[in-house]
Amino acid sequence: MKTYRIASIPGDGIGIEVVAAGLCVLEALVERDGGFRLDVETFDWGSERYKRTGALMPEDGADQLRDFDAIFFGAVGAPDVPDHLTLWGLRLAICQPLDQYANVRPTRILPGIESPLRGVGPGDLDWVIVRENSEGEYAGQGGRSHRGLPGEVATEVSIFTRTGVERIMRHAFTLAQSRPRKLLTVVTKSNAQRYGMVMWDEIAREVSADFPDVTWDKMLVDAMTVRMTLNPSSLDTIVATNLHADILSDLAAALAGSIGIAPTANLNPERRTPSMFEPIHGSAFDITGKGIANPVATFWSASMLLQHIGEPDAARRLMDAIETVTANPDLHTPDLGGTATTDRVTEAVIAAIRGRND
Ligand code: IPM
Ligand code: MG
Repeated sequence: MKTYRIASIPGDGIGIEVVAAGLCVLEALVERDGGFRLDVETFDWGSERYKRTGALMPEDGADQLRDFDAIFFGAVGAPDVPDHLTLWGLRLAICQPLDQYANVRPTRILPGIESPLRGVGPGDLDWVIVRENSEGEYAGQGGRSHRGLPGEVATEVSIFTRTGVERIMRHAFTLAQSRPRKLLTVVTKSNAQRYGMVMWDEIAREVSADFPDVTWDKMLVDAMTVRMTLNPSSLDTIVATNLHADILSDLAAALAGSIGIAPTANLNPERRTPSMFEPIHGSAFDITGKGIANPVATFWSASMLLQHIGEPDAARRLMDAIETVTANPDLHTPDLGGTATTDRVTEAVIAAIRGRND
């Protein structure tokens, strides 16, 4: 029987609660399927470890993950640790060395979920945002000099490489080609940013030649927010830089009903290293310990994990179970206006997994 090795990194805050729920759901899928096993190893990396030892993870942390088939991640961030330390100390310290350069964020209005957009329902908003995940505005280039003096300077340099832009563009075109509408929107800001963003546009055009069946267009990122809000059905697959897609994916999650639903895959598409799956939301200390975190984003991420490791039937079964549950407003957590708890939603998803016969 196939056994996949999964590294679980719950991290901080509600990350711990939703990953626990996600592992229960994965266990139920393994039982239901009978054709594969998951060997899960948990890592206690995160802000508590930072406060104890001065580091969120061991120095060779990313290397410790190399032999796993996938990584299941919760969230990182604590009220008493600066956000840039937690981000660079854990999430980026995994994504960058493991070269998980394609961050894929599907957004859809699930059954039973209401969009804040008037007259927009399931089917009107079905997007996948492809976020460049290795360079751009998150390249880590920059510095500060003359701290505290009137002449203090700080730089935050965006890096765009031909290799980096071309590989994310190819990934986006390939993904667009695999979806029924074969439609890609390339987001830039090439009117104001005339070097990196103009190169981004040029590479998009070059790569498009290899995908003659994909219809593609270009949008400036500011205008893109308007199009997403006023004409969501005109979009399908979207590719953007690290920071632009970060911002657009929060907007996308809100327009699809809640950030509590939105999943992410940090992929190394060539499979040279394990990919990492996580909810988009953060550690949410305001609701930590209350048992009301929405586990749906984590379940959806778990479904992407199963798809990636090669268990598409289990992935589909999980997605169907999620949609059965979201369709019932009694099973909505407070972020969706309901009163259900994390446990209640988890039990319902497990029941739906067990109930299906095909
Ligand atoms: C995301 C998040 C992170 C990011 C935060 C937590 C640093 O917003 O995954 O979208 O900006 O990359
Ligand atoms: Mg974000």
